[in-house]
Amino acid sequence: MSNENLQPQSLEALFEPYTVQQLTIPTRIAMSPMARAFSPSGVPGEDVAAYYSRRAVNEVGLILTEGVVIDHPAATSEPRLPNIYGEAALNGWSRVVSQVHKAGGVIFPQLVHMGMIRPMGSQPYPEVKSVGPSGIDLEGNPVSEPMTEQEIAEVIQAFADAAVNAQRVGFDGIELHGAHGFLIDQFFWEKTNRRTDRYGGNLLQRTRFAVEVVQAVRAAVGPDYPISMRLSQWKMGDYAARLVDTPEQLEQFLKVLVEAGVDIFHISTRRFWDPEFEGSELSLAGWVKKLSGKTTITVGSVGMDSDEAEGGEPAGQGLAELLKRLGNQEFDLIAVGRALLGDPAWAKKVRENRFDEIQPFTPEAAAVLF
Ligand SMILES: Cc1cc2nc3c(=O)[nH]c(=O)nc-3n(C[C@H](O)[C@H](O)[C@H](O)COP(=O)(O)O)c2cc1C
Repeated sequence: MSNENLQPQSLEALFEPYTVQQLTIPTRIAMSPMARAFSPSGVPGEDVAAYYSRRAVNEVGLILTEGVVIDHPAATSEPRLPNIYGEAALNGWSRVVSQVHKAGGVIFPQLVHMGMIRPMGSQPYPEVKSVGPSGIDLEGNPVSEPMTEQEIAEVIQAFADAAVNAQRVGFDGIELHGAHGFLIDQFFWEKTNRRTDRYGGNLLQRTRFAVEVVQAVRAAVGPDYPISMRLSQWKMGDYAARLVDTPEQLEQFLKVLVEAGVDIFHISTRRFWDPEFEGSELSLAGWVKKLSGKTTITVGSVGMDSDEAEGGEPAGQGLAELLKRLGNQEFDLIAVGRALLGDPAWAKKVRENRFDEIQPFTPEAAAVLF
C-alpha cells in the first residue's frame, strides 16, 4: 500500500466520530456488507456475533451486516444466509447487536431481496417462483412473470416489517440493498424493468418501487431512525451497466429518494477514486454527496494492495488518496470489505501505523468466519 506520505496525525481523520440523525458513529470506518452464509436455517449464532464484534472492537465504527433476508418466500436462494424474521433469528441478532454495542460499535442490517438473481427452484422454498419487475433475469432472459401490484405491495410490506424487527432487536439503523442488480435495483435498471405501468417507463417511474419501500420503512420506524440505501451503477455480471449518464439524471434520481426518507447513501463502486462523469475528478460518492447533501459512504478497494479482479495490477491509490478525498468532504464514511475479511484488526492497525502487521485479504479468508 502506498502509505509513504502518511503522517500518523493525518490518519486520525479516519477515526473522528460522525453523527447522522441522532446516532453517533464512533469512527469513519464502516464494514461493508458481505454475504457469508454462516447462519444455519437463517439463524445467526455466537460465531456471527464474535465475527462482527471483533471488527467493532478494532475501530470499525459502523458494522453493515451481510445481506439479511426479509420475510418473503422468494427473497433468497441460500438458507444459510441470516433471516431478519422469526424468533430464533431475531434472538440471534439481538445477541449480535448487544456484543457489537459492548465492543463500542454501531450496527445496521442490510435488508435484501434477491429478486431475479434467485435461481428458480432455490431453497428454502423451491416451489416458489422468483419475482422481479418484469420476470427478466440479469442477462435479459424472460424466466418468470412480471410482478403483480399485489406482489409488489407484499414485498414492500416485507421490507417495512424487516425494518421494524431490526429496530426491535436494537439495531441502530437499517440499510436497504438497492445495488448490484438485487430486486430494488432491478426496478431501477432499464434492462430488467420493462414495465409500462407506474413502476416503469422512465427513470423516475423505475425509482417508484424504491421510493415506496423507503416511505413504508420510514412510516414504520419513525422520523429519527437512520435509513441507508446502497446504490450502484454496476450490476452482478455487468460492471459496465449504468443507471444514469449525467449529473442531472443523478440529481433527479436522488431527489425522490431523499424526499421519501433516505438519510445515508452508500455508493458502491469498485474503486473509490474512479471519476464518475467526464470533466471532474469526483467519484460517484462525491457526486451523490454534492447533489443530495446527504451523508455518503464510499467503498471500493480500500486497503487492497492489489486486486485480483484486475489481473494483479496494484490498486495503488492507498490511504493518502482516501484521506485527501475525505478532507475535501467528498464522502463522510468509508466502507471496507475484503481488507476487513483478511484482517479483523485492519482499522486498528491503520490507526496505529502498523501497516507491516496487516494480514492481506486472500480468497481463503472469505471461506471461513473469524
Ligand atoms: C464475500 C463478499 C460478499 C459480499 N456480499 C455483499 C452483500 O451481501 N451485499 C452487498 O451490498 N455487497 C456485498 N459485497 C460487496 C462488498 O460489500 C464491497 O462493496 C466490495 O467487496 C468492494 O469493497 P472492497 O474493495 O473493500 O472489498 C460482497 C463482497 C464480498 C467480497
